[in-house]
Amino acid sequence: MEQGPIGIFDSGYGGLTVLREIVKVLPHHDFLYLGDNARTPYGNRSFKTIYEYTLESVKYLLNEGCPLIILACNTASAKALRTIQQRDLPGLAPDRRVLGVIRPTAEVIGQYSQTGHVGVLGTSGTVNSESYLLEIKKQSPELKVFQQACPMWVPLVENGEHDSEGADYFVEKYLRELFSQSEKIDTLLLACTHYPLLIKKIMTRIPAGITVLNQGEIVAPSLEDYLNRHPEISDFCLKNHQLRFLTTDETENFNKKAKAFFGQSILSEFVHL
Ligand code: DGL
Repeated sequence: MEQGPIGIFDSGYGGLTVLREIVKVLPHHDFLYLGDNARTPYGNRSFKTIYEYTLESVKYLLNEGCPLIILACNTASAKALRTIQQRDLPGLAPDRRVLGVIRPTAEVIGQYSQTGHVGVLGTSGTVNSESYLLEIKKQSPELKVFQQACPMWVPLVENGEHDSEGADYFVEKYLRELFSQSEKIDTLLLACTHYPLLIKKIMTRIPAGITVLNQGEIVAPSLEDYLNRHPEISDFCLKNHQLRFLTTDETENFNKKAKAFFGQSILSEFVHL
């Protein structure tokens, strides 16, 4: 295996909220971001479709020489990761790794809760897959997990409406539905790449004292820890501070919208998978 950048995959712009945190923790590493904007959103698609789309992107990043690929997308992590790890990767590139965002989050969520009641907000795909229920149960069986699908949040963010009054209705609706399941929830996980953009609205509509977890801030130190424990992978990760951004749709649009997710302007390149 030759050295290459760490691949970061998402269905669109959203994974930039995760990459933004990863770059803070690993500023010297090279990253190759791939957003499948042409086919986003994944959140309400079938298992089969999400798996096929994600596998195509993973193959693309493997061909670009990535020794490690992070599925920054919760929906892809929930619906495609396991099959790719177990069925595809051994035949495609057995010495490389593909990791997701659900397991590292499930590993730490219990540390934040006093009441043992945690809330998970995600796309319909993530919620219906029950991946968080399963993974959190493995790590912290004593926790009670309450899930809420928020299908309107991604479209609101994608259309730049996250700060608008129009978003208030749906932010309140899904939070009300979550908290009606348990009033004891004291830890709220934003289990979707887009939700950090709604954090201001969320914070003002939940009871005081609730911890809201931004997933990028969990995934970034977990990746650093993984690289420290796995020299067989980290030795093959380039460290020239290079960032490249690829999109399967129009670059102009990507460049314009990406700043809200990444916090700084970027220039993307078009790729056809
Ligand atoms: N990236 C997706 C996630 O984290 C949200 C956008 C989509 O539905 O594709 O679940």
